[in-house]
Amino acid sequence: QILILDFGSQYTQLIARRVRELDVYCEIHPFNNIPEITPDIKGVILSGSPCSVREEDAPDLDLEQFRGKLPVLGICYGAQLMAQKFGGNVMPSEIREYGRARLSRVDGHHDLLKEISLDSQVWMSHADTISVLPDNFEIIASTASVEMAAYKIKEEDTYGIQFHPEVTHSEEGKTLLRNFVAHICNCSQDWTPDMFAETVIAELKEQLGDDKVVLGLSGGVDSSVAAILIHKAIGENLHCIFVDNGLLRKNEFESVLDSYKGMGLNVKGVDAKDQFYEALKGISDPEGKRKAIGRVFIEVFDQEAQKITGVKWLGQGTIYPDIIESVSVKGPSATIKSHHNVGGLPEKMNLKVVEPLKTLFKDGVRNVGRSLEIDQNILGRHPFPGPGLGIRILGDVTAEKVAILQEVDYIFVEGLKKRGIYDEVWQAGSMLLPVQSVGVMGDERTYERVVALRAVTSVDGMTADWSHLPYDFLQDVSNEIINKVKGVNRVVYDISSKPPATIEWE
Ligand code: XMP
Repeated sequence: QILILDFGSQYTQLIARRVRELDVYCEIHPFNNIPEITPDIKGVILSGSPCSVREEDAPDLDLEQFRGKLPVLGICYGAQLMAQKFGGNVMPSEIREYGRARLSRVDGHHDLLKEISLDSQVWMSHADTISVLPDNFEIIASTASVEMAAYKIKEEDTYGIQFHPEVTHSEEGKTLLRNFVAHICNCSQDWTPDMFAETVIAELKEQLGDDKVVLGLSGGVDSSVAAILIHKAIGENLHCIFVDNGLLRKNEFESVLDSYKGMGLNVKGVDAKDQFYEALKGISDPEGKRKAIGRVFIEVFDQEAQKITGVKWLGQGTIYPDIIESVSVKGPSATIKSHHNVGGLPEKMNLKVVEPLKTLFKDGVRNVGRSLEIDQNILGRHPFPGPGLGIRILGDVTAEKVAILQEVDYIFVEGLKKRGIYDEVWQAGSMLLPVQSVGVMGDERTYERVVALRAVTSVDGMTADWSHLPYDFLQDVSNEIINKVKGVNRVVYDISSKPPATIEWE
C-alpha cells in the first residue's frame, strides 16, 4: 500500500482516490500521527497544505523514518518542506501561481516523468515557491514561471512536484501518479473491486463465524453494499431491519423492500411512521428535528433487534471519509450540520461493530456494488439524507405535509428519469416552504403553498453547483406539480451553489 501523509490540503482525499483508481490501496494519515512503517507500505506521498513552510509553527515531520528506505513523493507543500529541510530555500512567489500552466521542460528519462509530454497542462495552486534547491537535488521539470516545478534527490527515490497531479486539470497527472506507484514503488495494481469483495467476504467469515449480525438498511448504496457483503459471508445469520420513518419518498418503502428481498436478504420491514410523526410534533428547529428522528430510530431499531436472540454484532455501512482523522492545521473546522443520524446506537445496544466498507470512498463502494451485481436501481440512486423529507419540510412536520411533498418530489424525480437526465444530476429533491402565496386558478383566487426544486451537480457533496436543467423541462415539471398536487400553487427553482448555500435547506 501507499501511505499518504496529510498536511491539511483540500486535495488530500483526491490523491487517495486517484491512487485507488490505479488499483493500488492507500491510506491517509495525519502528518503528526504517522503509523508504524510496516513492510507492506511501498511508498509515501506528502500532501499539500493551506500553510506556508515559512510560518513559525508550520506543520513539520520527521522524514528519517522512511527517507532513503522508501520512495517519497512530495506534492506542493510536501515538496517545499523537503527542499527547505535539506538546506534549500522557499520564498513567497513574485507572481502567485493559481490555475493552469504548461510544462516547458520535462526530463523524461526519469521514471517519474515517463510518458509525460512537453507542454502538458498542469494545475498550480501555491503562493510560495522554491527559490534555492539543496546541492544534491536536481530539477527534472519546469514551467515558464516556475523553474523548479519538479525535482529529484540524486541517488534516491525522493521526488518533489510543485503542481497537483491529483486534480483532473493536470492532464497527465494520473500518468505521473501511476509512474510513482507502479514503477517507482513497485506496487502491483491488483486492488480491484472483485479482489476487495473476495478478501472482505473471507475476512468476515473468519471474524463472524456463526455469530448473528443485525444491520439497519436505509435504501442507500452504503448500507446495501455492506449488507450484501455480510450476507455473502454468513447468509441467514444476517438480520436486516428497514424502518419506515414516514419521511421516505413516495412508494420507496415498498419498492426498496422488494429489491432487498429480490437480492436474497433476510429483511424485516417495520412501519414506525406514527412514532416518528408523534416525536416530531411541534418541532421546527432543524437540529431538533434531526435529534428527534435519530432518537426514535434508535428506539425502534433497538426494540426490533432485541427480538433477534443471541445477536452479537451491529453491521454498519460506514465509509472511509467518515473515519479519516482530519488534520486541522488552521483551527478546528466548524460543524455546519450534524450528520450523525444514528450516533450512539452501538453504545446503547452493547454490540460489537462490523464495518466492511470503512476503507472505501463512495465511488469505491459503487464499484464493489457493481462487482457484486447489486441492482442498478439501488447503486445509481441519488444520495438521500437520513432524516429524509423531515428536513425538506421547513418548519414543523405533519403527515399531511409529507404527503404533499412526496407527490411533488415524485413528479420532479420521475421527470428527470423520463427525460434521461437523472444520472447527470448528483442529487435532486424538493423543499416545502413555510410560506403561502397568492395565485389564480380558473376564476378563483388561491392562497397556497410554495415548493422549491433543488438539483445539483457535485462529486462528493462537499461542494456543489446548481444543475442547469433545461427551461422546457422545468416548465413541464412546474405545470405538472401545480396541476396535480393539491395545495401547491407556486414552484421555484434554487440557483444557489455550495458554498455559500448548502444542498439541503435545513
Ligand atoms: P448539505 O446540506 O450539508 O448536504 O450541503 C450535503 C449532503 O449531506 C446530506 N445531508 C444529510 N445526510 N443526514 C444525512 O444522512 C443529515 O442530517 C444530512 N443533512 C444533509 C445531503 O442530502 C447532501 O447529500
